[in-house]
Amino acid sequence: MSIISKDISKAVALLQAEDVVAIPTETVYGLAGNIFSEKAINCIFETKQRPFFNPLIVHIASVAELPNIASYIPEKAKLLADAFWPGPLTLVLPKQSNIPDVITAGKDTVAVRVPNHPITLKLLQQLEFPLAAPSANPFGSISPTTAQHVSDYFKNDLQMVLDGGPCQRGIESTIIGFDGDDPIIYRLGSTAIEAIERVVGSIPIKNKQEIAPNAPGMLERHYAPSTETILTNDMSEVIKNNAEKRIGVLAFSTTFNHDSIAFQIVLSQTKNDQEAASKLYDALHQLDKQDLDLIIAERLPDIGLGKSINDRLQRATVQP
Ligand code: TXA
Ligand code: MG
Repeated sequence: MSIISKDISKAVALLQAEDVVAIPTETVYGLAGNIFSEKAINCIFETKQRPFFNPLIVHIASVAELPNIASYIPEKAKLLADAFWPGPLTLVLPKQSNIPDVITAGKDTVAVRVPNHPITLKLLQQLEFPLAAPSANPFGSISPTTAQHVSDYFKNDLQMVLDGGPCQRGIESTIIGFDGDDPIIYRLGSTAIEAIERVVGSIPIKNKQEIAPNAPGMLERHYAPSTETILTNDMSEVIKNNAEKRIGVLAFSTTFNHDSIAFQIVLSQTKNDQEAASKLYDALHQLDKQDLDLIIAERLPDIGLGKSINDRLQRATVQP
């Protein structure tokens, strides 16, 4: 029997019983549980095979709940929450004392956001507790953007995936932390830096070398297909140099021609970065199923969501 269902009241009942349910968000699907249930949170870590040192994001129904989660809210955090919530932006703030250590990996800060998905907002409104939810994929692998992706990963270990259709944004939330009262980007994501800077001014990126295109050795392998993947500006050259292989191509806006290309996906014929982001993970899931020797992915222009997409593709190229 399929674990995929649209029944919100069933999800409410499971979550109230301290079980884990996969939920849709506008970014990617999450594996959700009551933040105050040790049983549910342990089950999330176990299901994902996620190390306990990696903290979780708390999902709340509205900005009005933020003071229950964060003990201090800098002015610029308020501005960002008002500008982008509900939406794909996560704030890392000093935590309230009742937020369990297992959620924050023992840190004195907590990550929190209001997701922008009608079904999950309805779900959160019906619960008396916030939901912790990491992306619903085994640790390190490609994040899920459809209910089917989640079911393919976890059908034997999960009771329910709440079906909210394909995720509209398609890559994870942008994470912002604070150095005192000054915001810093911790993770590139579905909210473009340019949009954030229009609200709070110029904002630095933490550990910038980690997301610099020319330093793949510095990158943590993540969001990764099991097929070897290369990211490049020069598609034709890399395709030619791998002509003996069975190649999959992940192109930004145009197709490529070569006999060795067995499978090809174009992310946005109109060069729209939002369209490309929404299709990215599904494209990687599809490419990974084609029994290819190599996936060759085209680097996007480094502006707007192109930055976030390049960051994910760069991490996908790191060899295990
Ligand atoms: O779009 C999203 O953010 C999705 C959906 C489901 O909301 N969630 C997601 O969760 O991407 P996850 O667990 O895959 O990524 C959360 C990231 C991790 O890299 C974690 O290290 C970071 O958030 N994080 C969580 N709490 C933190 C904290 N207190 N300080 C710094 N980083 C934190
Ligand atoms: Mg993740």
